[in-house]
Amino acid sequence: MKKVGIAILGLGVVGGGTYKILSEHREFYKKIHGVDIVVESVLELRKERALSLGIEEHKIASNIAEVCSNPDVDIVVEVMGGVEPAKTFVLSALNAGKSVVTSNKELFCKYSHELENAAKKNNCGLFYEASCVGGVPVIRTLLDNLQGNKILSMMGIINGTTNYILTKMSNDGASYEEVLKEAQKLGYAEADSTADVEGYDAAYKLSILSSLSFHTKIPYTKIYREGITGVNALDIEYGKRMGYVLKLLAIGKNSDSGIEVRVHPTFIKCGHPLAGVNDSFNAVYITGDSVEDVMLYGRGAGALPTGSAIVGDVIYCATHDNFNYSTFKNTASAAPSTKFVTNFESAYYIRLSAKDKAGVLSKVSAVLSKHGISVAQVVQEDDKKSNGVVPIILITHLTHEKDVNKAVDEINSGELANVDSVIRVVS
Ligand code: HSE
Repeated sequence: MKKVGIAILGLGVVGGGTYKILSEHREFYKKIHGVDIVVESVLELRKERALSLGIEEHKIASNIAEVCSNPDVDIVVEVMGGVEPAKTFVLSALNAGKSVVTSNKELFCKYSHELENAAKKNNCGLFYEASCVGGVPVIRTLLDNLQGNKILSMMGIINGTTNYILTKMSNDGASYEEVLKEAQKLGYAEADSTADVEGYDAAYKLSILSSLSFHTKIPYTKIYREGITGVNALDIEYGKRMGYVLKLLAIGKNSDSGIEVRVHPTFIKCGHPLAGVNDSFNAVYITGDSVEDVMLYGRGAGALPTGSAIVGDVIYCATHDNFNYSTFKNTASAAPSTKFVTNFESAYYIRLSAKDKAGVLSKVSAVLSKHGISVAQVVQEDDKKSNGVVPIILITHLTHEKDVNKAVDEINSGELANVDSVIRVVS
């Protein structure tokens, strides 16, 4: 029987999950796939962690050179995260003729061109299903199954940590800090949670997914990004009363006007398929010109769900001799011909603190109308009135971001009302 040796770089949450799946399913894979997949080496500085997982001491390598020169290793699984030393290690493995499976979205998003060139040069496979949306099989769906389509748009809840935090804040009224700690304990959050809560993690994933969807490199620096650290529990509550849930949404669109890519907190109308995606679950909602709408849903983070995506790639790699690469020109920056849309069109939730006296609402309406903004819904939260100031919530019809910004500046420069929050809305 064909034997394929694996090295795992990093035995953190995902590395541990990957080892568990591979070792527990070894006999099953032999039977189903006719290949014996064996972990031959691990690179992990905490030797006791490797031993506690049941890995034999002689398999614990002390440096990357040892892994790369091991003739029993065919596939290197990189689950360390971060750019360095992961990048150096992955390039060393590829240059030593080993195929690579990685879960590292930051590395793949920033250096996919260098990694792919090295893989092609050395005739090796380079797989990254686990880099986006954990156990949800979105990369191969885009690379293979949806190739018959022109992808028009994608919307995704693609960060488990922020979805867990927003869900708990919304359901339990829990504080942001309290829930973040829980998410870290459960192993959802990145080592530095800034990447999650400031939207970088989602932007790295959106860069990969939109490059695959729109067949052109979309650098993460082209993605408009806002995280959830500025989210106010009051807005979650008011939104809920009006039939919306707050999510950190990643949006990619491809139209005649150009490509639009953004990550930001977004109110989604209850009833939209993405509105029911809670806790650490993730989902990607893709619209293609032939298939129409497709939604992929599942666990976007965690040891075994992400390990499942890694092992899927390992099995594919172990059972194929020829490998496919990106379906776009894999360069460091966007092609000069790529047009990016920055003046987005969206509906908006606007929360104002207004003096509760005659004429205030009509003055606010006059400013909005001057900037071409039409209002779809207005609610005055009278029970929250204090010192003669009352919260007023407006939901607009579709309008342009620049017009909203101009209107907000004009309202804030007056005496009667102040805009406290602006949140984009998907209905
Ligand atoms: N920190 C990431 C998340 C892990 O919360 O989604 C999976 O990429």
